[in-house]
Amino acid sequence: MTGAEAETPAPLGLLAELTHRCPLRCPYCSNPLELERRSDELDTATWTRVLSEAAALGVLQVHLSGGEPTARRDLEALVAHCADLGLYSNLITAGVNLPPARLAALAEAGLDHVQLSLQGPEAAGNDRIAGLPGAFHQKLALAGEVRALGLPLTVNCVVHRHNIARLQEVIDLALALGAHRLEIAHAQYYGWALRNRAALMPRRAQVEAAMATLERARTAQAGRLVIDAVVPDYYARLPKPCMGGWGRRSLNVTPSGRVLPCHAAETIPGLTFDNVRSRPLAEIWYQGAAFAAFRGTDWMVEPCRSCERREIDWGGCRCQALALTGRAENADPACHKSRHHAALLELADAESEAEAQGETGTAFVYRGFATPQK
Ligand code: SF4
Ligand code: FES
Repeated sequence: MTGAEAETPAPLGLLAELTHRCPLRCPYCSNPLELERRSDELDTATWTRVLSEAAALGVLQVHLSGGEPTARRDLEALVAHCADLGLYSNLITAGVNLPPARLAALAEAGLDHVQLSLQGPEAAGNDRIAGLPGAFHQKLALAGEVRALGLPLTVNCVVHRHNIARLQEVIDLALALGAHRLEIAHAQYYGWALRNRAALMPRRAQVEAAMATLERARTAQAGRLVIDAVVPDYYARLPKPCMGGWGRRSLNVTPSGRVLPCHAAETIPGLTFDNVRSRPLAEIWYQGAAFAAFRGTDWMVEPCRSCERREIDWGGCRCQALALTGRAENADPACHKSRHHAALLELADAESEAEAQGETGTAFVYRGFATPQK
């Protein structure tokens, strides 16, 4: 191991994007607009090898994700392999098309945790965002099955202009479903969410009211429900350490095997991504060009380069910096020190009001493949 490698921490988490296939069509999806096809997906043997390599590398948690990971028929085998390796497995699911017998088989195989997405606290709103009639009732049934099996349940709700006013109902529903944790995730504008940004952006007053609701709920539900939530980037003063810092804590493997430092890294021009089909995971983590590109602080420009928070937030999000300032090295414009910060706030205000002002182009573009998958 070289000196630079010795200074690089081992990753703790692996996001295994098993497939981009999904029965839902959420317009806030952070998957790329160009979805990877079933015919390009890694096979079972390659995924099990990747999981073994991840465990050897130091990974502790595997998030089985997608798309919808239950679309893979080999999910039980992959969960069992995680259990054999001592990896904590978290199933990130939309909760539809998952019959009780299959969930029981996954639990039997050693599944540790289920994270269930909700698009809203009632059927009509949930199913409109999900783009799938009947999804809400399937999700509620699945939550009951998860709890009946004794598995810990996290409810995840991505919030935006169309559901942010209903946060209290989301909290009440998470409690009723027996969730241990509720993640309130503001839409992050990559992939399909970026395409739909003007249709999703919440208004400033909505965000302020939501943060107050969350604060009250955190106090009222302390000891019963853990509530995770942060101020959305477009209304923040300081950025978040995206991914816990580039190439510091976690890595993503796409359905076809490309290894990414974050889910939107492929939007950054000039980066090249290794594939698990042709290079061992440890080598990719420690020596891969894409991971080296923004690891640490050497790549930073001002104001990050001389900022006292540079090893706290690692300059925020590279993909957001690129999307909004044209350069991935720039400070994330969520930061008040960025010269693009004021423009970001103006953009958020303008887009959140676009619909109210009758502007066209604020209808959803639902996620989907260019041609249907078999
Ligand atoms: Fe973070 Fe850079 Fe802003 Fe400092 S200047 S707070 S390092 S984004
Ligand atoms: Fe790529 Fe934040 S999503 S660094």
